[in-house]
Amino acid sequence: MMKNSTKNKKEKMGKKTFELKDMQKKLCIIVGTRPNFIKCGPVSRELGKKFDEVLIHTGQHYDYEMNKIFFDELDIPEPDFHLEIGSGTHGEQTGKMLKLIERVLITEKPKLVIVFGDCNNTIAGALASVKLHIPVAHVEAGLRSFDRSMPEEINRVLTDHISKLLFCPTQTSINNLKNEGIVDGVYFTYDVTVDALEYNKKIAEKSDITNHLNLNKKEYLVATVHRAGNTDNKNNLNNIVKAFCEIDEPIVFPIHPRTEKCLKSYGLYNKLNNSSVKLIAPLGYLDFLCLCNNARMILTDSGGIQKEAYILKVPCITLRKNTEWIETINDGWNILAGSNKQKIINLVNNFKPSSNQRFVFGQGNSSKIIANIISDNL
Ligand code: UD1
Repeated sequence: MMKNSTKNKKEKMGKKTFELKDMQKKLCIIVGTRPNFIKCGPVSRELGKKFDEVLIHTGQHYDYEMNKIFFDELDIPEPDFHLEIGSGTHGEQTGKMLKLIERVLITEKPKLVIVFGDCNNTIAGALASVKLHIPVAHVEAGLRSFDRSMPEEINRVLTDHISKLLFCPTQTSINNLKNEGIVDGVYFTYDVTVDALEYNKKIAEKSDITNHLNLNKKEYLVATVHRAGNTDNKNNLNNIVKAFCEIDEPIVFPIHPRTEKCLKSYGLYNKLNNSSVKLIAPLGYLDFLCLCNNARMILTDSGGIQKEAYILKVPCITLRKNTEWIETINDGWNILAGSNKQKIINLVNNFKPSSNQRFVFGQGNSSKIIANIISDNL
């Protein structure tokens, strides 16, 4: 476990006014994966104005393209603690996190721990905290796919049931919690993804990624696949690969390390690599945002990207049988295709988004709302 020096952190934080903050109210933020880093940016910026923050990075994601690039690009302070957990089975990964997070919390004694989303570090952080009687705030609470074969669904459900403050991005997520008997500490905050996107959209316009990849705006598709339900099932991944190879339009596919490993082990990697699909390394947030913003359509099994597509007004085909982000479907901007080859191809050719769109995820002030609620509750 590595502890960063306070000097480095303060240098990176620049001209923040420490005097105004209530140093008695130390908060701890736990992150570890790409989607956490993205959501942490705006929340940490708002909380940093009022509180002393301690940032713990579990190290679940560790490759430069999956990790460091986000800290370099997104104005997130350097982590105070880097736990360097790395890969492993779910039990191993979560267990190691639990042990080391507990150690940090015992030393740091925060008044509140903040976790994001549905990753292994989310449940590990929440569990370590409540066992020490430190209250937990869950950003992106109440989301449900109702598919308990997904590790993320287990992480979400368990984290919600042990959290004190539950920050819900949608009315659906509030209803889901109510159906499970959770009503206390539940707040409708809209979605911090919008905050991150709004903050970074202008900066992302400077990205040269479309020229670099030789793409014409709105004349290509972006694809991402990383869910265990697709990558760990050879048949599903094979169907998706076949669909991508038959689609008669440029597809850019930034490939997650999990997916690359699985494609190679199933003997599918060369097939995709020899097709017209552009396989590229995972991108940083700014290049990815620019790539998505200029795409004609997005194909994905990621939850976050379904929302980003909706916010950017790019039609989305979801390579899953269910989604937590039901509003994107109800509004007519997202559609489920699972891993059905013919369905994917037909939808790429025929799916048309609806003409009207509501701002269901808010307008970019979710982190402010969250910081105010935390302030009122501490
Ligand atoms: C995790 C989250 C998922 C989230 C996703 C975003 C869980 C259960 N899942 O899935 O909800 O949508 O992050 O990407 O927490 N690997 C690398 N380099 C890295 C990171 C991972 O090579 O920097 C490899 C690992 O060796 C492992 C595989 O990718 O084999 C899976 O990584 P892991 O962090 O366990 O889960 P993700 O699939 O990334």
